Amino acid sequence: MSDLAFQRCVHPHCGTTVDLADTAFRCPKCGGLLDVAYDWDRLPVPKSLKHFESKWANRTHPLDFSGVWRFRDLFPFAADDKVMTIGEGQTLCQRADAVAAYCGMKPGTTFLQYEGMNPSGSFKDNGMTAAFTHAATVGARRAACASTGNTSASLAIYCAASQMMRAVIFIGSGKISYGKLSQALEHGALTVQIAGDFDDALRRVQEVSRQLGIYLVNSVNPFRLEGQKSIMFRVLEALRWEVPDWILVPGGNLGNCSAFGKAFIELTELGLIPRPPRIAVINAAGADTLYQLFEKNGVRWNGGRPDDRKIGVYMKYLDDADKRADTLASAIEINRPVNLPKALRALDRCGGVVREVTDGEILDAKAKIGAGGLGCEPASAASVAGLLKLVREGVIDPGERAVCILTGHVLKDPDATVAYHSADPKAFADKLGKRGVRRASFANRAVQVPNDLSEIVKAIELYA
Ligand code: F0G
Repeated sequence: MSDLAFQRCVHPHCGTTVDLADTAFRCPKCGGLLDVAYDWDRLPVPKSLKHFESKWANRTHPLDFSGVWRFRDLFPFAADDKVMTIGEGQTLCQRADAVAAYCGMKPGTTFLQYEGMNPSGSFKDNGMTAAFTHAATVGARRAACASTGNTSASLAIYCAASQMMRAVIFIGSGKISYGKLSQALEHGALTVQIAGDFDDALRRVQEVSRQLGIYLVNSVNPFRLEGQKSIMFRVLEALRWEVPDWILVPGGNLGNCSAFGKAFIELTELGLIPRPPRIAVINAAGADTLYQLFEKNGVRWNGGRPDDRKIGVYMKYLDDADKRADTLASAIEINRPVNLPKALRALDRCGGVVREVTDGEILDAKAKIGAGGLGCEPASAASVAGLLKLVREGVIDPGERAVCILTGHVLKDPDATVAYHSADPKAFADKLGKRGVRRASFANRAVQVPNDLSEIVKAIELYA
């Protein structure tokens, strides 16, 4: 690997640099997170984002076919012949007027960036292809992650497709939807279910990876985030390179919002866009650490020196009260987001806001997204629930352009969908009622009819 790309501590006052091949993913001096950084002055930076349009003509080349790697000039850390791609990043950015109407936005303003078409069915493949490429470059034989289900599905797929590495995944017990668990099992990952939640699993996988020298692909791995920057490049591409006013993204471990922030900081500094959009990170109310710290406790990036005392007090409160993350949006059921400092940087540089939405608001938004023609899992719908909230608050103007990121496919968690639409009060109460969801305002209930032709015809004439 050349010296044109390297790793660097995210805190500017430390700024320690680390070799590109290092896999500790922590600053050796201050313990902070690392970025992948580039010597842009010595790299061929495109003069305009239109440069990437020409890649479409070259779709038979696997790297240009990939919706991630066709933007590799904007994260040039890997040699082309080392890239491990399985065609990830074929996504849609769909104009969604029905969703706009639900949120109180004007027609033509609201877009859904749909990541469910990735090989493993979630946005994670954008990052996994990048981390996997780095892992292969440094000769890793095993790769591990803790996961609420999508990172593990993605890792399992890359290991199976490449036959290059063994996947080791850590999941919390009872904390993963069947759609996602089935992927890990089907694709042959060693699946370690620990008695605990995601936060416990993430702590353990970091210890185990260190001890056994296993390559870690959680989003503490900065190469993951380089790949996830491409989600924003594709949004800009779909909007004809016009920067939207708002990007709304669900917040869990805060890798995605951190990656988006880094993408926009770099594009602005390279002169490729005039300004970054504003970013809204949407937490589930049962897993709202970023919301509490940023909006309630005023914790800010502060030039790379966030208020560690305030963060420490909050984390101690979580410990002392044994407060566990608890939301139906299991993908974002996380109380100790590993990328917190990078998320604070993204919020700082992109005029960000953070909101929390209840499980009921998430499921209503999800049903509206589905009725509008795109299916997503609960966590993804937090972005649309957040848009509705921010329009009602007057923070987002109905005429502004907003892009909500739909992070995962509807079939990832069919239980939640069926329980929401179920006519069976027990199914609703068991799955949703005990989580505080009182009503399924947009339920599309199945109609029960006897096995009788005239009754069936009557029911159809009545309802359709
Ligand atoms: N949406 C979905 C569908 C996810 O799976 C995740 C995270 C997020 C949103 C949140 O993204 O962590 O970058 O803030 N899932 C991780 C996993 C934690 O293990 O699959 P984030």
